[in-house]
Amino acid sequence: MTSIGPKAYIHTDRLKQNLWNIRRHIGDRKLVCVVKANGYGHGALEISKVLSKESGIIFAVFAFEEAIELRDNGIDNEILIFSRILPELISKASELNFTLNACTMADLKALSDFHVRTGTCPTFHLKFDTGMTRLGFDVSEAHKVFTFIVNNHLNPEGIYSHFATADEGDLSYAEFQLGQFNEIVEKGKNTGINFKYVHCSNSGSILNLPNAYFNMIRVGMLLYGVLPSDEVSMDISVEPVMSFCGPIVNVRKVPAGTQVSYGGVFTTEKETNIAVVQAGFADGFPRPWYEEGFVGYKGQTYKIAGRVCMDQFMVDFGDVEPDEGEEVLFFGKKDGNDIAVETIAKEINTTTYVLLTAIHGRTERIVI
Ligand SMILES: Cc1ncc(COP(=O)(O)O)c(C=O)c1O
Repeated sequence: MTSIGPKAYIHTDRLKQNLWNIRRHIGDRKLVCVVKANGYGHGALEISKVLSKESGIIFAVFAFEEAIELRDNGIDNEILIFSRILPELISKASELNFTLNACTMADLKALSDFHVRTGTCPTFHLKFDTGMTRLGFDVSEAHKVFTFIVNNHLNPEGIYSHFATADEGDLSYAEFQLGQFNEIVEKGKNTGINFKYVHCSNSGSILNLPNAYFNMIRVGMLLYGVLPSDEVSMDISVEPVMSFCGPIVNVRKVPAGTQVSYGGVFTTEKETNIAVVQAGFADGFPRPWYEEGFVGYKGQTYKIAGRVCMDQFMVDFGDVEPDEGEEVLFFGKKDGNDIAVETIAKEINTTTYVLLTAIHGRTERIVI
C-alpha cells in the first residue's frame, strides 16, 4: 500500500494558468485573490505561496487569524480582511499592513480614535451594502459616512460592495445593486474623497457583468477553476486546481445479494468486486452523493455502493479488480479521470463553494 487517507492534489500549473487567463480577460485591473476559508479548501498557504510569485496580487481573507497565518508564513502582499474590525486589533493590523473593512459608523469611529491617538491609520476600504443585506453601510448612510471621513481626515483606500446574484441567469437584481453602487461612488467622489480602488466584482460578475469591473476585481471560485454556478456561461478557460482522491484499502469479491454499508440501501445484483475507499464525510467527502455518485478509476467511472461512512465508503467495481493502494478520483481531473465538482453540486443540490470548503479532516494536501 502506497498511501493512506484522502488526498487533495493541488495543481499549481493550472492555478497559474487560470490566473493568467482571468487577467487576460479583465485587462489591466488590480486583482484580489480570495483565499479565505483555507483557500476554498485548497490550502490558503499553498495557494498564496504560488500566487504571491505573480506580480501585483492582493489577497483577501475573512478572519483576522487567516491574515496572520499568511503573514506568519512569509506572505508579504497586501491582505484585505472582509470581517468586522475589532478595535483592539487595529494596532496589530497597522503593524502587519492589513487592509481593514469599515462597514459601520462604529468602525469609522474606532479608526478615527486610533488615528487621533497614534497619528497613523491602517489602510481600510469602505464597504457598502447595496442589496446583499450582510456587512456594509446602508446606502442611506452615504452622506453621514463621507462627511465623517472628511471631517476626521480619514483616507479610505477603497470602496466596495458585494453582489448577491451575479452568478444567476437573471441579472436584474445585480444590475440594481450596481446602480446603487455607482451612485454611492459618485457621492463619495463629490464629497472630495479620492478612492484608489473601486471594486464590486466576484467570479459571477467577472463572467456576467463587465460593466461592474471598475479598477479592481475580487476573484475566488474562478481562480480555483470551478464555475460559481450552473447559470453562468464560461468564456474564460480555467481548469480545476484540486483533484480530490482517496486510496482503495481493501477489495473483496462478494456474491449477488450482498448488502453494503449502513442501512442496507445497496445490494449487489451479481457477483462483484467491492472496494473499500479510505475517505468519508468526516474528511469532506459529500455524503449525499452516494445515491447517484461514482468515482473515477483508470478513465472509467464506478458506482458508489451504499451510504458513505464517516471514514470510508465502498465502490462497486463489477468484474474489475483494482489493487489495494491504488487511488480513485472523487472530483477534479487527474490520471485520465475527470469528474466535475459542478456535476456533484448540481446532483446533490448544493454549491461548489460548500463542497470545496468542506474538505478538511484527515485530507492531506499535496502540491504538484
Ligand atoms: C466579499 C467577497 N468578495 C469576493 C468573494 C469571491 O467570490 P467568488 O468566489 O464568487 O469569486 C467573496 C466570496 O464569498 C466575498 O465574500
